Amino acid sequence: MATTAPDSRGDCLQIFRGTFIHSTDTSPLEILESRIVAVNKLGKIVFIEPADKEEELSQKWHFKREKIRKLCPREEFFMPGLIDTHIHAPQYPNMGCCLDLPLLQWLIKYTFPVEARFKDLKFAEDVYTKVVKKTLRNGTTTACYFATIHTESCLKLCDIIDKFGQRAFVGKVCMDMNDVCTEYRETTSESVKETERFVAELVKRKYPLVKPIVTPRFAISCTPGLMKQLGSFANANNLHIQSHISESRAEIAAVKKMFPKCKNYSDVYDVHSLLNDKTIMAHAVYLSDEELELFQRKGAGISHCPNSNTSLCSGLMDVRNALNHKINVGLGTDVSGGYSPSILDAVRRATDVSNILSLNTADYQKLSHEEVFRLATLGGSKALGLEKVTGNFEVGKDFDAVLVNTGVPGSPFEVFHEDTLQAIFQKFLFLGDDRNMTEIYVAGKQVFPCPTA
Ligand code: GUN
Ligand code: FE
Repeated sequence: MATTAPDSRGDCLQIFRGTFIHSTDTSPLEILESRIVAVNKLGKIVFIEPADKEEELSQKWHFKREKIRKLCPREEFFMPGLIDTHIHAPQYPNMGCCLDLPLLQWLIKYTFPVEARFKDLKFAEDVYTKVVKKTLRNGTTTACYFATIHTESCLKLCDIIDKFGQRAFVGKVCMDMNDVCTEYRETTSESVKETERFVAELVKRKYPLVKPIVTPRFAISCTPGLMKQLGSFANANNLHIQSHISESRAEIAAVKKMFPKCKNYSDVYDVHSLLNDKTIMAHAVYLSDEELELFQRKGAGISHCPNSNTSLCSGLMDVRNALNHKINVGLGTDVSGGYSPSILDAVRRATDVSNILSLNTADYQKLSHEEVFRLATLGGSKALGLEKVTGNFEVGKDFDAVLVNTGVPGSPFEVFHEDTLQAIFQKFLFLGDDRNMTEIYVAGKQVFPCPTA
């Protein structure tokens, strides 16, 4: 580690001047107009100050004012990088198709077969390169990936993520039980040993932004013995945990049959030590209030995947109720149960689902677009336990950011003279896409446009 103080020399700072839009604990949408933000060599935000202090700041921090990157007022702004809290990288070849069956049949007919192909490292390299480039291009600066049971291709995914500069958790999928075909599963001891090997190999690589996450696929595909050992391993090594919970009614019925002694689905994970403050569970569509209270007590997070939940007709998740239970909720694409790689799409679907839920319940407090934006950024960081590092613009956090330009040629929406910044931002949330994302940064490093892409 270099011991020189990188902050004390202005030539080590990147300086941006303009509008920064983000969420905080107290405000789902905060528009910081005319600010100067400095990012040090380590990629951390060192100050956020009013732009009228430019001269004073340039003297204090020893930077030349010509060095400041000035954003175009109204046309350009920074927002925090988007956080995809649940995505299956190997399902990318099926993204946008194969959605005609409910969850359990969909897994058997389409999903296990495509995942089986990741035994082939060449195939894995091709698909994983495409998925990482695509998610990054869509503003996903942090992703929490499920890979497959194949350790070598899981490591290949980690190599590719590191190369392109995304922040990520990567999980080697564990499944030692399914009725369909032995080709798609491991033995219990293989699953545990390969998880240990995957974690050890990834740690050895010392990638600054790519971390392992213990990944029992879901209760239906894991024996109690496997879940217990994965829980112990994760806890002994302070590792994050991800899985699926309470996604569809048929799945819940199957879990009930398999674990008759457990009180509910959440209890299945809890008795196997898989529910704690490093856990993120995808879906949680049908959790009871009692289960939500357990999540709250344990500090476990939820990944809300609205595109998947409607595409597979799994159900409508009540995010408001989870938030009322003080649970950390983020958004997930759940590719390829969800057909879009974009967290902006998840913002729109989450808004739709909340609106639909409001149709059935008098006085339902539907989610505002500002709140959904917070789920996509700060909420995701909290659900993944990364809130000290990313999720919004705060001094000391990494600069994970998307530069949005509303005036690009072919922009999918129009800005009118009388539009407020609030209106412009809402138009971008509901109508914008990758064309509007002209620069993307992770930990201060520009990853798009990227010389290696
Ligand atoms: N439950 C277990 N595996 C999966 C999966 O791959 N996708 C979804 N949506 N749910 C699951
Ligand atoms: Fe999933």
